[in-house]
Amino acid sequence: MPFVLGAQLCVLIVFCYLTNIYGASAASCRCSSLIVPVHVDILIPKDPADPFGGLKSNASSLRRLNATYDVFGVFCQPNTVPPKNADAIQLLFHGFTYTQQYWSPPTEEFRNYSYTAFACDRGMSTLAIDWVGVGLSSRPANASDVQYATSSAVASQLAHRLKTTSILPEVRPFKKIIGIGHSAGSVLLNFGAIFEGARFPFDGLILTAGLIVQPTTMSGIPSMFTSARDDTPLRWGTLDPNYITTSNRSIFYPANPTSFSPRMLIFDTLTRDVGSLASLLQLGSNSLTAHYTGPVAKVVGSEDQALCADVVALNAVESVLWPEAKSFEVVVAQGSGHDMNLDFFAAGAFNIFVDFMEQFTAV
Ligand SMILES: *[C@@H]1O[C@H](CO)[C@@H](O)[C@H](O)[C@H]1NC(C)=O
Ligand SMILES: *[C@@H]1O[C@H](CO)[C@@H](O)[C@H](O)[C@H]1NC(C)=O
Ligand SMILES: *[C@@H]1O[C@H](CO)[C@@H](O)[C@H](O)[C@H]1NC(C)=O
Ligand SMILES: *[C@@H]1O[C@H](CO)[C@@H](O)[C@H](O)[C@H]1NC(C)=O
Ligand SMILES: *[C@@H]1O[C@H](CO)[C@@H](O)[C@H](O)[C@H]1NC(C)=O
Repeated sequence: MPFVLGAQLCVLIVFCYLTNIYGASAASCRCSSLIVPVHVDILIPKDPADPFGGLKSNASSLRRLNATYDVFGVFCQPNTVPPKNADAIQLLFHGFTYTQQYWSPPTEEFRNYSYTAFACDRGMSTLAIDWVGVGLSSRPANASDVQYATSSAVASQLAHRLKTTSILPEVRPFKKIIGIGHSAGSVLLNFGAIFEGARFPFDGLILTAGLIVQPTTMSGIPSMFTSARDDTPLRWGTLDPNYITTSNRSIFYPANPTSFSPRMLIFDTLTRDVGSLASLLQLGSNSLTAHYTGPVAKVVGSEDQALCADVVALNAVESVLWPEAKSFEVVVAQGSGHDMNLDFFAAGAFNIFVDFMEQFTAV
């Protein structure tokens, strides 16, 4: 996998960027990996098991986290950007135990599963990042530093950065940032929308596979998760045990085995990463009201085994949590599972994301 080797090299020499051409869109897309230092100075819960991630806490149950992290990302831009998209970018947040590779599984066989290539082919730029604690971004020694308050502060800083400075030579600052999350990545964006409300610097949110979770259902750790250091001692043996992972990823795919490639499930298992226990225990923080004012869309797979939701009842239940959103809509991606980018229905989901992107960035 030359892409991954290139990315590691990039980390070693700290400041550089790497051009990677995707097979499916060699003529139309340029991608560069980059590292952005992000400083956060925030209050986070002393108890990483706080189901609301500190959103309901008083000062005595919070502690200060003042840290600078290197955030790894892959920036993709069409070679020719249509004028209507020149000022807009999609900032992409992967789900729990995934990395930015979710948005573009990096082998040719999987090229039809690359959302970044799909978006590029339609003239749209993307920046897919690794969460702090994950992949090639900084990993705090203490997993309890990685909570939604931390990750959403990083997202907010990145969005401000994209609006005010040039992230690469010859790339102008962007005027519109659309946040797209997958699963826990949607909870991350949702958390920022609750915490910052109208100040949250995203001009629209597309929350995929991220329905509200009732905090009470998350009181225990699902048995499918284990400490990463027990899962793969050679790779993760020295990590804080509160970095966890899962090697059984079948719940992220539709129940019907003809809906996805068995090779994708193998690839997914081999490239699994870690997440902090706090990010799992705080999933229910998205059950609170967000006074965010931009447009919001939720995209849910009809065959999502991880959410087990009554998709028909969703719109009403979810929309009350977004009373000030410019618009709110729930769309069901037919046939898709939880990892809607990785099964045979990916193109349907991608078309939904791109449609919302166009709607949210139209003047
Ligand atoms: C702060 O929150 C803690 C834990 O939720 C609670 O036990 C304590 O009484 C609260 N203190 C104040 C001053 O409200
Ligand atoms: C917070 O962190 C910054 C940079 O990491 C450092 O310069 C500053 O002194 C820190 N502030 C406090 C109060 O520790
Ligand atoms: C990718 O999609 C295109 C168009 O839908 C199709 O022609 C091609 O065979 C697909 N490639 C792979 C590797 O699945
Ligand atoms: C992580 O930080 C918290 C708060 O400072 C502390 O209570 C906890 O013991 C630390 N855990 C580890 C593994 O160092
Ligand atoms: C993985 O989990 C599913 C339930 O989601 C279960 O049916 C299956 O047997 C598990 N596979 C393995 C290899 O443990």
